[in-house]
Amino acid sequence: MTTIIKNGTIVTADLTYKADVKIDGGLIIEIGPDLSGATVLDATGCYVMPGGIDPHVHLEMPFMGTYSADDFESGTRAALSGGTTMVVDFCLPEPGQSLLDALNRWDNKATRATSDYAFHMAVTWWGEQVFNEMKTIVQDKGINSFKHFMAYKGALMVNDDEMFASFSRCAELGALPMVHAENGDIVAQMQAKLLAEGNNGPEAHAYSRPASVEGEATNRAIIIADMAGAPLYVVHTSCEQAHEAIRRARQNGMRVYGEPLIQHLILDESEYANLDWVHAARRVMSPPFRNKQHQDSLWAGLAAGSLQCVATDHCAFTTEQKRNGIDDFTKIPNGTGGLEDRLPLLWTHGVVTGRLTMNEFVAVTSTNIAKILNLYPKKGAILVGSDADIVVWDPKLEKTITAKNQQSAIDYNVFEGQTVRGLPRFTVSRGVVAIEEGTVKTREGHGRFVARDPYPAVSKALSTWKELVAPRKVERTGIPASGV
Ligand code: URP
Ligand code: ZN
Ligand code: ZN
Ligand code: ZN
Repeated sequence: MTTIIKNGTIVTADLTYKADVKIDGGLIIEIGPDLSGATVLDATGCYVMPGGIDPHVHLEMPFMGTYSADDFESGTRAALSGGTTMVVDFCLPEPGQSLLDALNRWDNKATRATSDYAFHMAVTWWGEQVFNEMKTIVQDKGINSFKHFMAYKGALMVNDDEMFASFSRCAELGALPMVHAENGDIVAQMQAKLLAEGNNGPEAHAYSRPASVEGEATNRAIIIADMAGAPLYVVHTSCEQAHEAIRRARQNGMRVYGEPLIQHLILDESEYANLDWVHAARRVMSPPFRNKQHQDSLWAGLAAGSLQCVATDHCAFTTEQKRNGIDDFTKIPNGTGGLEDRLPLLWTHGVVTGRLTMNEFVAVTSTNIAKILNLYPKKGAILVGSDADIVVWDPKLEKTITAKNQQSAIDYNVFEGQTVRGLPRFTVSRGVVAIEEGTVKTREGHGRFVARDPYPAVSKALSTWKELVAPRKVERTGIPASGV
């Protein structure tokens, strides 16, 4: 049974051209003019783009005494509704827990996924067992990226010596270290000080995690990665200080990537000043929203190529869950949603305004991360042989975002009331239509785990270079006599 996407304009990270796309067996099998087949999806007036890949989501995540409310079914359903055809979640071992045991748990949760998915593994503690299991994770389990939390002291946080050990192991294995970059020691001190002063509302969450604290940690992680000979991926880059560190590192030849979130691009710190506690608490996430100057820096970074991917860090908590921190902002579960809204919002605020080209849009929502995570061209491409993960994007469709109509399980939407222009006419997941003109046709369990090989080209090049410039003992020809 072949499917043809007909009469559309293909938009990839580097090309825009008119052609039809033929799909069979979940793959793209032909691209060209005037193709025919059993089922036709009419793409007249639409752009045919690689489906979005969200490299940063937390579905059913155990965190701050509760679980994030969207599981792999509702989370991936939300993703597909908004044109995202693959998500990458974080497997989080508890301190002392085997990485393989934790992965077992995540494998079980993910069987409900409606879109394809992959995992990053988190390094939340360090020891010989972690060192050994990292090899199994990379070589047998199809995971080539390891996340390190520099914040959440007393829970997920790891220290510099642990990061250096883990990053070095990543370099040996051809894997990519990732960081949540905030100085967790300073944040913990700031939280205690603010609470002691009676500053217990959600606005204090933002006061406790200023941009400088993120900039410092980003810079530190970059130096640790450079010393370890590893590339580095910095998640949820939210401010100029972190962007500046990434920009500077890249200009110095380091292989460092930065990931702004759609939330940080669109929403600003004034949300925390809202007189309604619930409004502000719903927007508590780490790092917190910043001001306009930081937002402009992130947009510029996407256009300039100093920042590579736009993610969501989708980690949705209900209002009831947010109420855990009613008297103490440090107990408000950190996280916001965005999976359904990432592409429409980025199109509206990026492409429609002229901040991004359509090709840059595809690059930062799909192709760049596919390359970074060694998924390309299976994902992130419209090429013969690629998975048929495709969004048929209608630039004329409009909607006003509202929790009433969303797929996410939570009872609000941080983008409530925003009108977006540009939405999927069809979202196709491995050849199967999952969304058709607003009708949800997702199938629980359709999603498959996507294994990723180690040693993407950048890791190979970096290890070759690091070997070439490694310190070498100076072989001297003679030892001078004493006293000379
Ligand atoms: O506030 C956030 N970002 N929650 C999810 C966990 C994380 O730090 O990514
Ligand atoms: Zn984080
Ligand atoms: Zn409100
Ligand atoms: Zn996250």
